[in-house]
Amino acid sequence: MANDAFGLGQSDRKVWSYLETVFGPEDPILAEIRERSAAAGLPDIQVARFDGRHLEIVARATGARRVVEIGTLGGYSGVCLARGMASGGRLDTFEYEPRHAEVARESFRRAGFADRVRIHVGRARDELGKIESHGPFDLLFIDADKVSYPDYLRWGIANLRRGGIVLADNVFRAAFGATGDWSEESVAALDLFNRELVGGGEFAATFIPTVEGLAFGVKL
Ligand SMILES: C[S@@+](CC[C@H](N)C(=O)[O-])C[C@H]1O[C@@H](n2cnc3c(N)ncnc32)[C@H](O)[C@@H]1O
Repeated sequence: MANDAFGLGQSDRKVWSYLETVFGPEDPILAEIRERSAAAGLPDIQVARFDGRHLEIVARATGARRVVEIGTLGGYSGVCLARGMASGGRLDTFEYEPRHAEVARESFRRAGFADRVRIHVGRARDELGKIESHGPFDLLFIDADKVSYPDYLRWGIANLRRGGIVLADNVFRAAFGATGDWSEESVAALDLFNRELVGGGEFAATFIPTVEGLAFGVKL
């Protein structure tokens, strides 16, 4: 199709500023989390404003109640997910760095979700087993160490309900190979993740064409 010549999505600045104005993806609560995280010295690697909105809307549209996030950072994406959770929902979020978890705890408290979010501090691969008895889960958002994405996907296969959702950030990176901070091992893992998500027979999958690429699968 002729439209392929324009690539994915829309990168025209006019469209971006229009969407920023009309859809207003970041409210004062999220802006405060971004600013407080930066002031606390956390890396500026939370999801972009529209990714946050996508997370909320997918959670809301699917009526997600039992939500898992791998990679909490300062709680920005977690607040977006928690906003989308159905009533009585609970978010289990996993973070390796205690300092990040501390900032996130304050973010969830300020956003009014302290009683609906549990932050698990440690390596996600070691900690995930501790929540399995609370499953099956409705939604899994993956946004931590890239080398473990295939393992996190396997965890999702075992612990998401049928019709459950997996979302994963940064998946377009697999197209670039190793560059800058992105090691050969990380991009190979992202590539394996994408191929298993699409071709493994466990999910129907597509992607949301954000800047970094948000993979989106539904468990069959
Ligand atoms: C990209 S940031 C997450 C951003 C967050 N989802 C947001 O948008 O607000 C990745 C986070 O994963 C954490 N992390 C890295 N490896 C991890 C692991 N093995 N287990 C749990 N967390 C990990 C990092 O410390 C970092 O805070």
